[in-house]
Amino acid sequence: MRTFPAAFGLTSGQLEQAIRLAGMAPSLHNSQPWRFRILPHLIELHADPGRRLPAADPEDRELRLACGAALFNLRLALEHADIRPVVSLLPHLGASTALAEVRSGGRAHPRPEDTQLYEAITERHSHRNPFRDTPVSIENRHLLVNAAHEEHALLREVQAGERGALEGLVHRANRAQMANARFREELAAWVGRADDTTEGVPASLAGPKPEPQDQWVHRDFTAGPTSRSPGTEFESHPLLVVLCSQHDSREADLRAGQALQRLWLTATARGLVASMLSQVIEVPETCEELRRLLGGSVTPQALLRIGHGAPSAATPRRDAGDMLVNGAIEASEP
Ligand SMILES: Cc1cc2nc3c(=O)[nH]c(=O)nc-3n(C[C@H](O)[C@H](O)[C@H](O)COP(=O)(O)O)c2cc1C
Repeated sequence: MRTFPAAFGLTSGQLEQAIRLAGMAPSLHNSQPWRFRILPHLIELHADPGRRLPAADPEDRELRLACGAALFNLRLALEHADIRPVVSLLPHLGASTALAEVRSGGRAHPRPEDTQLYEAITERHSHRNPFRDTPVSIENRHLLVNAAHEEHALLREVQAGERGALEGLVHRANRAQMANARFREELAAWVGRADDTTEGVPASLAGPKPEPQDQWVHRDFTAGPTSRSPGTEFESHPLLVVLCSQHDSREADLRAGQALQRLWLTATARGLVASMLSQVIEVPETCEELRRLLGGSVTPQALLRIGHGAPSAATPRRDAGDMLVNGAIEASEP
């Protein structure tokens, strides 16, 4: 019989649940580019090079964002299991894929707000459908800014006077990507999947097919020529926020990933929904223009649209055992 490894004095069932929750983090095209190595006193987080997306993400920046988000979920799950996680980013483990290691710092005392974030892990989904026109309250906007700040990142709300310029940049970036055959092939390999897939984006969760007149051009996950039903129009004034780092480094990417997850879970816990519009950041020229639009001193990491909407369904994930470096291990004979 194969069994899940254990660590920190937790049972293998508790560890499996923690890894399963870590794997519910968002990732580009739902590629789930993380792997975990579990030792009795240590959990290592590794990038999974077999899940790189070189056309969209040649420098692995978004891979590190996704792994940072998975790390944040793991932190919450360990705290929930009464273990205080002590994290080192980019440890010198000898493996170039190593992104973080987590040790136990004794018993945890999770704050009530972190318990709410833990409970939001399974409720957070990308919401690619139109939002309702209800604005996001000032109180919630403050909470989102604080969430990013708590993880050493910055959240910059796009101001009314910046929207026109940003809209143009997003369209330009999308056109540049869709004109690139390598990008289109890579995207096509991950989208339009059947509902029983364990990775990539199922066609049923693609959201409405983007159309040229859309103000905020969404990435086309529909993988087909289907036109969208009449009346499915996107809201014209979503809350748009840019998650930024102060530096441009691998460590900053991992921190931004943790901030992305803290802010997205905070939004979920407050009844908000969100989706990402990453084209503008993936294309270097438009990313540089976005950086200048924001004042020139920050590194843009993610553009999110946040608002109110009906809940979306969950995108499938691999089993926790598939996310381990060595898979589940053979149990010793009883
Ligand atoms: C770095 C990064 C970039 C992403 N970019 C986009 C995007 O441009 N458009 C989009 O609809 N979703 C985007 N996503 C969301 C993923 O498609 C989504 O997380 C994945 O399909 C899993 O679904 P879930 O978020 O509902 O769990 C991005 C996610 C990450 C982490």
